[in-house]
Amino acid sequence: MAKEVFESLPSGWKTYMDGTFGHGGHVEYIMQQLQAHEGEDAVKNKRIVAVDRDLKMLEKGRELVHKYHAHIDFVHNSYSHIEEILQSELLPQIDYILLDLGVNMEHFKDPERGFSFLYDAPLDMRFDQTNGQTAARIVNTYPRERLAEVFVKYGDFPEKSGLYIADALIAERTNGHILTTTELHDTLKKKGIRKNQMPIIFQCLRIETNHELDELIIFLEKFPPLLSKGGRCAIMTYHSIEDRLVKIAFKQLADEAGYELYNKKVIKPHYLEVQHNRAARSAKLRVIERVR
Ligand SMILES: C[S@@+](CC[C@H](N)C(=O)[O-])C[C@H]1O[C@@H](n2cnc3c(N)ncnc32)[C@H](O)[C@@H]1O
Repeated sequence: MAKEVFESLPSGWKTYMDGTFGHGGHVEYIMQQLQAHEGEDAVKNKRIVAVDRDLKMLEKGRELVHKYHAHIDFVHNSYSHIEEILQSELLPQIDYILLDLGVNMEHFKDPERGFSFLYDAPLDMRFDQTNGQTAARIVNTYPRERLAEVFVKYGDFPEKSGLYIADALIAERTNGHILTTTELHDTLKKKGIRKNQMPIIFQCLRIETNHELDELIIFLEKFPPLLSKGGRCAIMTYHSIEDRLVKIAFKQLADEAGYELYNKKVIKPHYLEVQHNRAARSAKLRVIERVR
């Protein structure tokens, strides 16, 4: 939804934080559009703060600086530390913030990161490989109820199924650790877990490994006063729990004085985009504006 994101930028914006920079697709699209509509120099008047928890992503993004002669600062941090990030950039407020909470296909395609059961890899799944516990640690150390809760909460599994999956993992780990994607996949398969449930179980573990919901909740509490007047925050979600969190937080802000919903109805991708990119089909974009 790069076009929809671009269209939601406030007119005259100067500062933009991309909280989930990834491979810089949105930033690059914005630069291309700026150059096409406002000329080569338009990019030079903008300041972009590119944030990602994955250092590797930021390293690749540096190419954009040379390609567009852009002012981009790369910050290896979590978007939930927005106050600290803006302070270090000497920006008291910001005109636009984007979070794209989708999965990064580069993570999935990287055979060493452990996000996908299509590749045999250590069960890592951390966006930030310099920090935090791996998915293997969760699988091998969480007690039964806590493990089941991961599948119930993030995968919508009934409680009984959550406990069944947890029991399957616990039975296997008592015989030796589950350390790789293949070991996890084969353990689940042996216990009769269906093929179509496999990606959901992997997704639950990814969400838990990276505290994805907690990061979003913290961000939603912190960002409102950091928007400048007329500034906007746009969040793209792909998971119903995340979308609900954003919807409720934005509605609460809009009910209070000082903020307005930019889009009353959620923005979904154009059907042509979905045809071209199946992963976009569940995307939802919500944008809020600080009006005072
Ligand atoms: C869907 S990709 C973003 C794609 C990007 N919008 C683009 O156009 O290329 C999501 C990225 O967010 C990063 N990420 C996930 N959680 C994060 C967090 N809490 N803080 C910062 N980056 C995060 C991941 O490492 C991943 O690279």
